[in-house]
Amino acid sequence: MSETSATNEQFDLVVVSNRLPVDRIIDADGSAAWTRSPGGLVTALEPVMHAHGGAWVGWPGMPDVEVEPFDEGGIRLVPVPLSADDIEQYYEGFSNDTLWPLYHDVIASPRYHREWWDAYKSVNQRFTDAVAEVASGGAVVWVHDYQLQLVPKLLREARPDLTIGFFNHIPFPPYGIFSQLPWRTRIVEGLLGADVIGFQRQADAVNFQQAVRRLKGYPTRRGHIEVPVVDETPGVRVYGPIKPTGPIRTVVAREFPISIDASIYDELARRPDIQERARQLRADLGDPRVIIFGVDRLDYTKGIGHRIKAFGELVADGEVTVGDVVLVQVASPSRERVVPYMELRDEVELMVGRLNGDYSTIGHSPIAYYHQSFPREEMTAFYLAADVMLVTALRDGMNLVAKEYVASRFDDDGVLILSEFAGASDELTRAILVNPHDIEELKRAILRAMELPKRERKSRMRQLRKRVFDNDVAKWSNEFLEELAKARAAAND
Ligand code: F6P
Repeated sequence: MSETSATNEQFDLVVVSNRLPVDRIIDADGSAAWTRSPGGLVTALEPVMHAHGGAWVGWPGMPDVEVEPFDEGGIRLVPVPLSADDIEQYYEGFSNDTLWPLYHDVIASPRYHREWWDAYKSVNQRFTDAVAEVASGGAVVWVHDYQLQLVPKLLREARPDLTIGFFNHIPFPPYGIFSQLPWRTRIVEGLLGADVIGFQRQADAVNFQQAVRRLKGYPTRRGHIEVPVVDETPGVRVYGPIKPTGPIRTVVAREFPISIDASIYDELARRPDIQERARQLRADLGDPRVIIFGVDRLDYTKGIGHRIKAFGELVADGEVTVGDVVLVQVASPSRERVVPYMELRDEVELMVGRLNGDYSTIGHSPIAYYHQSFPREEMTAFYLAADVMLVTALRDGMNLVAKEYVASRFDDDGVLILSEFAGASDELTRAILVNPHDIEELKRAILRAMELPKRERKSRMRQLRKRVFDNDVAKWSNEFLEELAKARAAAND
């Protein structure tokens, strides 16, 4: 876990994401060190990175930190420094105030600023340069997420020997929305630099293929896109289908629904100390009959306001009784300098304050609200204590919280209410599926979940657990890397 000096080593597998999977901590003696952040992605990729000799390229998470590449847990980490300006324009601006709302059905209005786009291009170029330097001849490079959509094309130009995969962790919007983006053609061209482009849902892959047809005119057929090796019209929208004259390459664009390492949650939940903590949480909440639980990054895509509204109406109508039922909402701080996130915090906290102000009794409140992040152990205790898990995303690439809840419920108990607009709903069809915009439906779902007979709870949870355990994150990464291996074999034919 200590920082080591750089070498010119090269690696056969390079993963690239906006953030490195580490957090910087300051030791008691004042020296800086790194700890692994507990994301599912790093857990999934660790074995394959060890087997292939892997490097991970990403931003270390703070402005203006210049760190030499270092080893953490057998993986070479290659930091890409970002200045305060880069963070403001590339990360907070273009990534999270332009692309994020655009890709999530314009729930908030995307803001289009040319200087943010310039910063996005320049940071994508720097990530590309860092990868090009550490990737060995013929290496496999796996690029992650919407912050880095230009990297596949830039990398193919710099290093045509590489096999390049891209995975989009968030939704890809329908063309009618995507086409708002002033730089839409550049983004599509950027992604088409990859050999394999992965999406969460089939609908996302279909949306992308439509954008390709509408903007570049390339033929697409069942997830295979025919892309000219030399783009004769870079940056230009092409009207109508084109027939490539020169050599073409085939790009695969299809769904690879991501998951979690289910065994981690299962094992934690079976630990006596975590079960004791779950009992303690219930006792600390005043021993309610029903705990309803929501945990999200504080993001406007998560529908936190919708769920508070539905729950608040149930309280106001006397359909749930304060003290008998409590809604525990964990809203972890996120992107706090981006304006819509600041506004959301005010809105949510006003709603919570009003509801609690109006209906709390001495000793009991309708909502227990935490604007905090908790370690995985504490989250698992919450999952075990939660009789009803409420996931009301208005749009979500996947929603791993839903899968974590299921993985934790080794007792086959608990009820998951899940939004149809979360990618997870394609797989977790035995949840109680809801349209979170329909407040009446949401209220009925909450009441139904609270009263669901034990037999039905168990039967549903068993089926949900089978899905989550059969399709875990290791399977996801293996399938993606196998598709990349096929692409490489086809290219070498
Ligand atoms: O895919 C969504 C995502 O960008 C993840 O990569 C990340 O873990 C999460 O949202 C939080 O985002 P941020 O890095 O902006 O805090």
